[in-house]
Amino acid sequence: MAINATHSSLSGLVDMQRGTISREIFVDEDIYQQEQEQLFSRAWLFVGHESQIAKPGDYFVSCMGEESVILTRDRNGHIHVFLNTCRHRGMKVCRYDEGNAPVFTCPYHGWSYGTDGQLVGVPYFKEAYHSELDRSQWGLIEVSQMVNYKGTIWANWDPQAPSFLDYLGDMKLYVDALLDSRDGSEGGSEIIGTVSKWQFPSNWKFGAENFLGDHYHGISHRSEILVGTGPGGPGTERHGGNSRVPRGRFRGNVGFTRLGHGSGGGPPLPGGTRNFPEFPSHPEIEEYFRHVAEERRKRIGDKLYAPAATGTVFPNISFHSWFPRGIAVWHPRGPQMTEAWRWYFVDASAPNSVKELLRHYYMRYGGPAGMTEQDDMENWNYATVASAGTIARRHAYNYQMATGHEEPVEGLRDAVFTEFMSEQNPRWYFKRWLEFMEADRWGQIFPVAR
Ligand code: FES
Ligand SMILES: [Fe+2]
Repeated sequence: MAINATHSSLSGLVDMQRGTISREIFVDEDIYQQEQEQLFSRAWLFVGHESQIAKPGDYFVSCMGEESVILTRDRNGHIHVFLNTCRHRGMKVCRYDEGNAPVFTCPYHGWSYGTDGQLVGVPYFKEAYHSELDRSQWGLIEVSQMVNYKGTIWANWDPQAPSFLDYLGDMKLYVDALLDSRDGSEGGSEIIGTVSKWQFPSNWKFGAENFLGDHYHGISHRSEILVGTGPGGPGTERHGGNSRVPRGRFRGNVGFTRLGHGSGGGPPLPGGTRNFPEFPSHPEIEEYFRHVAEERRKRIGDKLYAPAATGTVFPNISFHSWFPRGIAVWHPRGPQMTEAWRWYFVDASAPNSVKELLRHYYMRYGGPAGMTEQDDMENWNYATVASAGTIARRHAYNYQMATGHEEPVEGLRDAVFTEFMSEQNPRWYFKRWLEFMEADRWGQIFPVAR
């Protein structure tokens, strides 16, 4: 039964009381279209890393939702995010993935734009336009808000949206654990290699949901766990042996009940974790990680520090903050198609031997050929196909795990924790999804919207 995705019909699809969510939100075309308008045109989205555009004129072509955008650094060193479309007839003005250019020249009729977005060249400006075109009004379309947070660039189309840090709330602690250097100093990450990009036939929300902290799907990775493809070399544990982190309050899920973000790590603790991975075949690498862990302990003292974990910043920005370390964005490409982009991080200051070892681990872990990522995509792909059937669509998914076992988290605003395994985070995430889908403006869904 096709759903006409009006506000009134949507609210029946996400039932927080029962812990059920309709399959329609993963397969329906109308709902998908509404997501483009309601979510992707007003949420904060990750577009790239400053290390990708280190020099003036550098650019990286990224995406916000379905739409192509250009992340670029202008001649004065300022960072911009522009819609990748010519103001004349819409042709893409940049058709490469990344590079350096003094101007973006549209291949159709030749309008050209400076790296600051200004329309600087119009063929036959005198002869055909009689010098009457007001070029100052026809520059590239720029996002309404943009922020560089510890080297990561985030953008928003909506001038009414709250600031990025308000949008993040206390999820910031988990994002900091991703972006800060391993020795605890602020920021300092860089991208290693290029961005991995691939498509898989699944709804984009499957990936986002999984990274909220699906500890339940260990069975999917059983073979990889048995082989032992961890960063420490053959036979070592994936994620650098996070399983050695003591059980109890470090294991579980922290979810943000008003903002929809969530992490598969437990609550932040004063001083963070003390653990670091073992590298049996690389004592010098182990020594490096022991050293930076020690430095971090000294630097952060008793400050609250989030554990290394997976996480998702609403709506489609996921991350690993440990091994591997980086951001995965789930770009929507139709209700049953996702384009995944993965940026992998290392500390810019790390020795080359460490960067190389991490690069190899990232390749065997993630991306379309990575052993772990393949397991996950197999599930999401078949789940999407199996959910789209006429009969299947009538039966909601079950999100009831550990309902009622949530407890508040000391030191975090609007956050709850469930120990071990739970589905609290997707429940809060989809509640937020519904709020976005139903709201006409930011003021209805954010208490401090400007
Ligand atoms: S479409 Fe770009 S110059 Fe005509
Ligand atoms: Fe997985």
